[in-house]
Amino acid sequence: MSGIEIEGLRPLDGELKVQGSKNAALPMMAAAVLHRGTTVLKNVPRIRDVFCMIDILTAMGCECSLEGHRLAIDAKTVSRVAVPREYVSSMRSSIVLLGAFLGRAGEAVTCYPGGCSIGSRPIDLHLRGLERLGVRIREREDGRIAASAARLTGARVHFPYPSVGATENVILAAVRACGTTVIAGAAREPEIVSLCRMLNGMGARISGIGEDTIVVEGVGELHDSEYTAPGDRIVTGTYLSCVMAAGGRAYLRGTEPEPLRGVLRVLRRMGAGIETAPAGIRIRMKGRPRPVRIRTAPYPGFPTDLQSPMLSLLAVSDGCGQVCETVFEGRFATADQLRRLGARIDIDGNRAKVEGVYPLRGARVEAPDLRGGAALAVAGLAAEGRTEIGGCGHILRGYEDICGDLKALGARIRQLPEDGGGADGDGGDAGGQLSAGGRLRRVRGSDGRRMSG
Ligand code: EPZ
Repeated sequence: MSGIEIEGLRPLDGELKVQGSKNAALPMMAAAVLHRGTTVLKNVPRIRDVFCMIDILTAMGCECSLEGHRLAIDAKTVSRVAVPREYVSSMRSSIVLLGAFLGRAGEAVTCYPGGCSIGSRPIDLHLRGLERLGVRIREREDGRIAASAARLTGARVHFPYPSVGATENVILAAVRACGTTVIAGAAREPEIVSLCRMLNGMGARISGIGEDTIVVEGVGELHDSEYTAPGDRIVTGTYLSCVMAAGGRAYLRGTEPEPLRGVLRVLRRMGAGIETAPAGIRIRMKGRPRPVRIRTAPYPGFPTDLQSPMLSLLAVSDGCGQVCETVFEGRFATADQLRRLGARIDIDGNRAKVEGVYPLRGARVEAPDLRGGAALAVAGLAAEGRTEIGGCGHILRGYEDICGDLKALGARIRQLPEDGGGADGDGGDAGGQLSAGGRLRRVRGSDGRRMSG
């Protein structure tokens, strides 16, 4: 898919089922490596990052079979512990395979995932945490990281900052360590909760789930299991922002309100009418959003992944709002693109001051990153005329079918394939196609990058 075109200023009215969570599914896929058997994950989103992780696991000897949203991973045999280099740079979340392979085989080889458009993304907390469990980390001449442990030993790990990935890595290694690991200063994101619950379903012994101190008692063997990924809270927040930008109403099912409690509080302050059910959220919006001041922070604070969609909402609010980004130092790239739509945004360090303008005016814009791309769709719904969003390969990494979903809500949106023609609302697989047997085969994504799908 080379682009998306949106015809703005049309109120939404519809309902959809929210896809499974990308940031829950990826560490859970890595967790499957800990068990010499089969792990089945349900409600797995069909997105590029999942296809990429399937490619990596397959390259390392696992048997993966994705049928619909059900992913079976048979990790009976693992033929290598070195994560293929080409994947690490294109998907930094592959770094959690470090903890998984250390837990499985006592060794792992990867490389520095490197920064991306939202920040430098270091992994020092990952490495220091693993060293506490007796892991030896050395940098090889080829620049790769070789991690090994004669014997993983439970220990006390303290994170000065609640890094999500570092917490996941230490949990994965600690599950198979000898003795007990206490992780203080752990991240509390809902995706950590689902990882721990899934691991306990495999036979791990983890307590303090969802707290900032997590205790992992190492175990010998794990067993076959099945787990359903939760709905994606960031995709939910993105679509709630779409309704608030366009006006109208929607019912989003297959998503729990609890992990979004703080976000829903902000959206209500902005004027949204929101009712929640155990597995769904109903939203209504009339008129322009009211301006607010938000500050991103680790969970349960306002999620940095919804900062860009929030910027789009403030860009059409009926006053002056402000966003303070405390998690990633480079996460305001979307502001430049929003200005092309007529937004008035001043960036000063990690603060963005936004003076609402309505409507915005449609233009050609470029997705700077995954969530920034989705935020441009939010803004396009509140722009007069047509907005064309290029660089949608970013969006496909985390949104299974943003065109189909927004079309289900009544948006006038279409996908622009290579030739610039128009396939209405058919997001299809994110560049992925399944052979008859349901096994993945390699296809080229619309941005030319080889990927499985
Ligand atoms: C996870 O990234 C998510 N990715 C991100 O979502 C999310 O934005 C982030 O957590 C924060 O919630 C996945 O789960 C796959 P961190 P992660 O380690 O684990 C610094 C999306 O759009 N840090 O909590 O990489 C780091 O530089 C993505 O879905 C260190 O300094 O986030 C950053 O400033 C984007 N040293 C902060 O901590 C380290 O060793 C938060 O990073 C690790 C992190």
